[in-house]
Amino acid sequence: CNISVVLPTGAKMPALGYGTWQSRDNSLETALHEALQAGYRHIDTAAIYQNEEVVGKVLKEWLDSGRLRREDLFITTKLSPFAMYPDKVEESLKESLEKLQLSYVDLYLIHFPITIVTDEAGEHYGHSDMDYVDIWKKMEDQYYSGKAKAIGISNFSVKKINRLLKNCRVKPANNQIEVHVYMQQPELIDLCTKNGITVVAYSPLGSRGYNTFLEGSGHQPKKVRDILTDEVMLEIAKKHSKTPAQIALRFLVQLGLAPIPKSTTPSRVKENIDIFNFSLDEKDMNKIRALNVGPQCRVCEFEVFTKLSEHPEFEF
Ligand code: A2P
Repeated sequence: CNISVVLPTGAKMPALGYGTWQSRDNSLETALHEALQAGYRHIDTAAIYQNEEVVGKVLKEWLDSGRLRREDLFITTKLSPFAMYPDKVEESLKESLEKLQLSYVDLYLIHFPITIVTDEAGEHYGHSDMDYVDIWKKMEDQYYSGKAKAIGISNFSVKKINRLLKNCRVKPANNQIEVHVYMQQPELIDLCTKNGITVVAYSPLGSRGYNTFLEGSGHQPKKVRDILTDEVMLEIAKKHSKTPAQIALRFLVQLGLAPIPKSTTPSRVKENIDIFNFSLDEKDMNKIRALNVGPQCRVCEFEVFTKLSEHPEFEF
């Protein structure tokens, strides 16, 4: 991966990252070895994914054997929305670092702008008194302590970013949001860029596995448009002798974003990082820009958090 996104701290984040949402256990362990072998150095995990231990185990093997140095890696993890209380931030990062077997992370994110609470019936609500600005103050402390080399946010809207920017000592270095061909989020990205906030694109392939995940959590699958069979994507893929997935990822990289595709299939792990030996021309870029539909193509609508959308601050 020879393109980086430079954080306001000066640190370089490899533009193509390895996403681990919905990946666990042995399949993640095997795939992460594949990913490191294939050249991935930017790994994205989160407390809520319950896979930090597996990530930590694999990283330790690579670091102990001398195949990698810590400074070669860019590791991101995130504060769980269930632990989003000012007095839990320090402890949560400490727990993540223990699981990852690291002394610092390169980027620590507020995973979600709302604190999620679970009632006795198992319903998820947004905590009415908890304010992400108060959480951010504790995130800043983690930055000052050196345990997080940079701090950022995820799933923050324009309104929330503007409010946070007015109330911070350290500006967020990154916002991690859903971005793909069908939901390109130009306004949100523009605001981030103007304020020096780098953007990581999650679900960059349109999260094709999300329905399996929804079904597993007892939810109805949803109809999603498939980026990888889109005629325009197929045509551009043919022109460059690449796959539509590679075109979708290269498009995001050329927009200056850092996509983090998830795959536990070894051939796709390799395919997804093999995007640095060609480039899309302006015509290709414009054709893909024209595929943007907007928020109705959002894949991750957080259905699993039952009553969360009733929270007054719930908006994207
Ligand atoms: P798998 O893990 O079996 O490879 P996203 O990153 O947008 O959430 O997409 C992840 C989903 O897309 C997963 O279901 C993953 O399946 C699948 N996927 C990842 N890379 C590719 C690819 N290159 N071609 C087709 N499907 C892919």
